[in-house]
Amino acid sequence: KQEKLDLVARRVRAFQDFPKKGIFFRDICPVLKDPEALTATIDLFEEHVKQTCPDVDLIVGVDARGFLFGPLLSQRLGIGFVLVRKKGKLPGPTVSVSYSLEYGEAEAEVQEDAVSPGQKVVLIDDLLATGGTLLAAYELMKKQQAVVLGCLVLIELKALNGSRKLKNCNVFSLLQY
Ligand code: HPA
Repeated sequence: KQEKLDLVARRVRAFQDFPKKGIFFRDICPVLKDPEALTATIDLFEEHVKQTCPDVDLIVGVDARGFLFGPLLSQRLGIGFVLVRKKGKLPGPTVSVSYSLEYGEAEAEVQEDAVSPGQKVVLIDDLLATGGTLLAAYELMKKQQAVVLGCLVLIELKALNGSRKLKNCNVFSLLQY
């Protein structure tokens, strides 16, 4: 387990002042470029889900980097994957919630028929910062009367207290900074 975490950790790098001054940006692109690190990432998520919520029905990924890891995990588990997207990207009937970003507002959407009432879901994204996006995904799932069993991220930025905002949702992170 620690060996797998090390494989992931050594492929996360950081950039100073991106996308703007004062932000120390954690970049997961090298994890995707390294098949061993990517396998270790999905192994660790799979193990956690099988131990804590083996009855999960769907993995729900958050736009955009949740889409990189979510389908790999859902395939391992033999279940489906659902997209929560930024407004205006999904065809057909959708439900949406608005949420606040650092500057202004955004809306997150899911297709109305993506999740049925009572289905058990696990949310996934690459990184938990302030928790705004994941909270929006959580609220969308509640709107759809889904049961949110937990929330997975590669990286949790502890100082930003995102897990406090997601207080109703168990957060599992592989790496904490
Ligand atoms: N990396 C990637 N995405 C982010 C970060 C970061 O450090 N902070 C907020 N969103």
